[in-house]
Amino acid sequence: MSGTPFQCYLVAKDNSGNVQPKITLRSITELPPGDLLIRVQQSSLNYKDALAARGHSGVAKSLPHVPGIDAIGTVLESESEDWPEGDKVLVTGYGLGSDCWGGWSELIRVPASWAVRLPDELTSHEAMALGTAGFTAAQCVASLQHHGIRPDTGQVLVTGASGGVGCLALSILAQLGYRVVAVSGKPAAHALLRQLGASQILDRKEVNDSSDQPLLPSRWSAAVDTVGGSTLSTIVRSLGHRGCVAACGLVGGVNFETSVYPFLLRGVTLDGIDSAACPRPERLDIWKRLAGDWKPQHLDLLTNVISLSDIQPRIEAMLHGNLTGRTVVDLSGC
Ligand SMILES: NC(=O)c1ccc[n+]([C@@H]2O[C@H](COP(=O)([O-])OP(=O)(O)OC[C@H]3O[C@@H](n4cnc5c(N)ncnc54)[C@H](OP(=O)(O)O)[C@@H]3O)[C@@H](O)[C@H]2O)c1
Repeated sequence: MSGTPFQCYLVAKDNSGNVQPKITLRSITELPPGDLLIRVQQSSLNYKDALAARGHSGVAKSLPHVPGIDAIGTVLESESEDWPEGDKVLVTGYGLGSDCWGGWSELIRVPASWAVRLPDELTSHEAMALGTAGFTAAQCVASLQHHGIRPDTGQVLVTGASGGVGCLALSILAQLGYRVVAVSGKPAAHALLRQLGASQILDRKEVNDSSDQPLLPSRWSAAVDTVGGSTLSTIVRSLGHRGCVAACGLVGGVNFETSVYPFLLRGVTLDGIDSAACPRPERLDIWKRLAGDWKPQHLDLLTNVISLSDIQPRIEAMLHGNLTGRTVVDLSGC
């Protein structure tokens, strides 16, 4: 195996110091250390991958780098008794596609502690259609439940609703009986959002209050926020008594302002979601739920499958907030 070059999407600097991604062949000796050598069948496109493809140093810790925070494939070589050769293996988060080379590659090498067994009820394709986006959406829903938000508590807001995390959070919540208000900047996605179960759709501008009012009228009982910035500030000030927002994203900004009043006067909870470092017992529980009654019914409707050579325009669209749903990257034909 050691002499065989493999295909990957490599982000590197050219002679002028500009970041230049390209699809190229690399040697197996360049892979990071790890117990499992995996032939990747599919990966996916997440916002973090789009940043890594641009060489963003917050994600791609060093260059050259291979993005791809999700991967499913087969164990080719193993130094772990738990993972014999030929086993199907799922990896999302940890350092994949961030601290170390990721899943936009025919081969990856990872520690066995990152490997998760694919639940019987999920196909490989479904696991990547969900990927980190679905995992994060499910973590957000679990967070709201943990904080006492039930279907009869009131409406739940989902921002960035046509994006990967957003549409999967919307699907799961609607399936569980919650009344979901979807926030989207894409009129063209309204039909899809309704199909996924949105009971109401708001434009992004309607959840973006730039006033310095410490509290706004109570509008929702809870929220899944993928946007951050002033959207998150607006949500925190607009939640009802004992409301909760699961904050997971930053597409609209990394800083946000609030006073302590929503926390002191309304008992609002702001719960941060970190999928990459999710502890293993919780990780397995989330995948179990995603394979069970949280599995979105309309996964096919919101998923596109592409090859590595078609990924560039999708990265650009994602970085401009123009992508809808999920993108699975098929590496089986490499
Ligand atoms: N914390 C974690 O562990 C974790 C895990 C996964 C993802 N994330 C984060 O969650 C966010 C979404 O990830 P994703 O993979 O779902 O990305 P995505 O598919 O690109 O979805 C992002 C969506 O946000 C909306 N949006 C884009 N730019 C915006 C702006 N300037 N203002 C307001 N809304 C905007 C768009 O939806 P509409 O057009 O419908 O508004 C867009 O489709 C990212 O910030 C990502 O880093 C975090």
